[in-house]
Amino acid sequence: MIEFEYHNPTRIIFGRDAVPQIGPAARVYGKKALFIYGRQSIKKTGLYERVATSLRGAGLEVVEYPGVKANPILSHARAGVDLAKKEKVDIIVAVGGGSVIDEAKAIAAGAVTDTDIWEFFESRAKIQEALPIVTLLTICGSGSEMNNGMVLTNEEKQAKFGLRAPCLYPKVSILDPTVTFTVPPDQTAYGAVDAFSHVFEVYMAREDLDTPIQEGIMESLMKTVVTRAPQAVENPRNYTARADLMWASSLALCGITFSGAGPLALPCHMIEHALSALYDMAHGEGLAIVMPGWMRYMVDRKRGVLDRFAIKVFGAKSPEEGIEALEKWLVSINCPVRLSQAKIGEKEISRLVQNAYQLAEVWDLSDFYTPRVIEEILRLSL
Ligand code: NZQ
Ligand code: ZN
Repeated sequence: MIEFEYHNPTRIIFGRDAVPQIGPAARVYGKKALFIYGRQSIKKTGLYERVATSLRGAGLEVVEYPGVKANPILSHARAGVDLAKKEKVDIIVAVGGGSVIDEAKAIAAGAVTDTDIWEFFESRAKIQEALPIVTLLTICGSGSEMNNGMVLTNEEKQAKFGLRAPCLYPKVSILDPTVTFTVPPDQTAYGAVDAFSHVFEVYMAREDLDTPIQEGIMESLMKTVVTRAPQAVENPRNYTARADLMWASSLALCGITFSGAGPLALPCHMIEHALSALYDMAHGEGLAIVMPGWMRYMVDRKRGVLDRFAIKVFGAKSPEEGIEALEKWLVSINCPVRLSQAKIGEKEISRLVQNAYQLAEVWDLSDFYTPRVIEEILRLSL
């Protein structure tokens, strides 16, 4: 067990009919809320009314900030910071998925400083404080509702970077699985793949392999996602499948899996962010393409842990069979497993390598993940 400090301050309110608790929960932290949400889903599903009523019913003044796009962009976050400052809000309420919650975190941090938020993403400044954040999760996968991370795309630089800071943990997150009943099958699958990869990458990157506690938790989380995702894709209103996927997604990146097992390293994410930055691909879709290629590249370097993964998660008899089983699962939930399926060919490789390598340097992964290694992994994903 490697020494660690674990502190996750986010209060989780989980279950059916948890939505009306958002107003009272938020009112504890502020009087004037910036209510941030995406493009149209919460209006179409009727969730908008329920949240707005709860916030105002709890005595909060509400300033709305809609329009967060999937793979959230810096320009929209910067405008949100300006609005938060102009309106002097004292709490951020985010209703959506990882994109909305991540942008909300960036606005919460930007609203209390004169530093431009992109400085934080390129590690030229450190986030010291942020407005309190309360979230209501509407699609599961990113884990942002229960962690201190956020990811933003600088659309001018075509750079999609992520960072973590202790003050970015939401104070409270409302997790009502019934709210995810309306998530379409493709987004359901992409969220499941994202949650799976958060666990898979930590499982593979562990420095200390003799960590049966973390290993058992991770194997259980991966197996749950593998079992529940096809059920939720098939029947979007399957409460048990949705509830397990929601809780597994939150636990996948809340810190419990990597505490004691070694630093958090997400190499598949480092490469996937290039796909999202350059092609605006859904994050989980990109991971479905990158993960098998990464496994094929690492199969001899990580044979032992890949062997255990294959047996424990898929009941497969070898790492090679484990890779096949993973691909079969991904195909079963209609995910691409090759760059060619996303119409990305050989001539795009060098642009992808260059983009991914800039994040490898920011994330301190560039010793091993040189441009040549990244290229080989991408070639195995063609
Ligand atoms: O914009 P609207 O209209 O709301 O539509 C959204 C969006 O288009 C839709 N949606 C959300 N809830 C819905 C719904 N549609 C119907 N019913 C609902 N209940 O789904 C689409 C995708 O939403 P998005 O928030 O982008 O998905 P997700 O939660 O997968 O978040 C992906 C983002 O999270 C980041 C990714 O990079 C990506 O930008 N991540 C954040 C992390 C973190 N903070 O720790 C770590 C992750 O590895 C990940 O990188
Ligand atoms: Zn992810």
